[in-house]
Amino acid sequence: MKFTLATVLSAAALASAIPMAEPEPLFDERQAAQSIDAAMKAKGRKYFGTCADQGRLGSGSNAAIIKANFGQVTPENSMKWDGTESSKGSFNYKGGDYLVQFAQDNKLLVRGHTTVWHSQLPGWVSSIRDKSTLTQVMQNHITSLMTHWKGKIYGWDVINEMFDESGGFRSSVFYNVLGEDFVKIAFQTAKAADPDAKLYINDYNLDSATYAKTTGFIRNVKKWIAAGVPIDGVGSQTHLSQGQSQGSIAAMAALCAAAPECAMTEVDIQNGSDNDWTNVVKACINQANCVGITVWGVRDPDSWRPQGNPLLFDSSYKPKAAYNAVLKALS
Ligand code: G3I
Repeated sequence: MKFTLATVLSAAALASAIPMAEPEPLFDERQAAQSIDAAMKAKGRKYFGTCADQGRLGSGSNAAIIKANFGQVTPENSMKWDGTESSKGSFNYKGGDYLVQFAQDNKLLVRGHTTVWHSQLPGWVSSIRDKSTLTQVMQNHITSLMTHWKGKIYGWDVINEMFDESGGFRSSVFYNVLGEDFVKIAFQTAKAADPDAKLYINDYNLDSATYAKTTGFIRNVKKWIAAGVPIDGVGSQTHLSQGQSQGSIAAMAALCAAAPECAMTEVDIQNGSDNDWTNVVKACINQANCVGITVWGVRDPDSWRPQGNPLLFDSSYKPKAAYNAVLKALS
């Protein structure tokens, strides 16, 4: 059949008379149409991530939202000491393996969290009193975890929350038994276990540049790096309340100047305004070496502190105004 203008026009007329099937939506309609991870990468950064574990990934729309909108996952609990080595020398990698597999299947980066932390620490570790036992136990824990997931983890929170609010060292079994040396031992062990992973020191309440904890943290990190301790990155958890975000911009400028790279690692903002979320994005984007932002959960009711709806998705998995504020700040 020869196609003349008339046949084309009559075909067009016919087509317009027949109702067309609705095109398939790109995503489940409850999900955000644009990925904040893609927007973050368009800014030259490595990821916009969230935390998750097997239970969360298996419920509701969490997995679908993470696949569509995020580019990195941090295990909320499964790689912590109490979950991985609850009794000495007996390791359980199941929860972490699940998350790492999900990440690999969906091309997401993983932040390992965390090898040395005073909290979620089994009693058999916190009751150790002699240096050589604690050194050996700490080295074995770090080496075992980092070797198990070697090559699959973008960066590790090697040490978490070792500072107190005055900028001094928190009382913990690690500091009390080994003194400041535990930092060098931990990072050197981590470096030997997975030389390609970025090694982070991570803490909270680093949200004002002039706060004693922030200045103490920075002073010590610079001192350790100058002394050859292999610290690659500083992580600012960024658990905020409404209005607190203004300080993050100067705080991240100071923190990011202390190490080769930096990240905002556990962001949530209780009663966060659009302006708060915009400030958080700016705080990272303003620093050339800020590699990414991780929010601490997908949906408000699943947050570790659900009061004040601190996350980017609401209880029906709908992206909130905060999500769009992040997107806009990245555009
Ligand atoms: O898995 C057990 C379950 O078997 C038991 O029945 C139940 C009873 O309480 O507890 C469950 O464990 C809980 C675990 O989360 C898993 O849901 C713990 O009690 C609970 O304490 C734990 O809370 C976690 C908290 O760290 C522990 O300190 C939060 O989910 C997690 O979001 C939070 O994350 C921390 C970061 O790692 C470090 N920075 C601060 C941040 C917020 O606290």
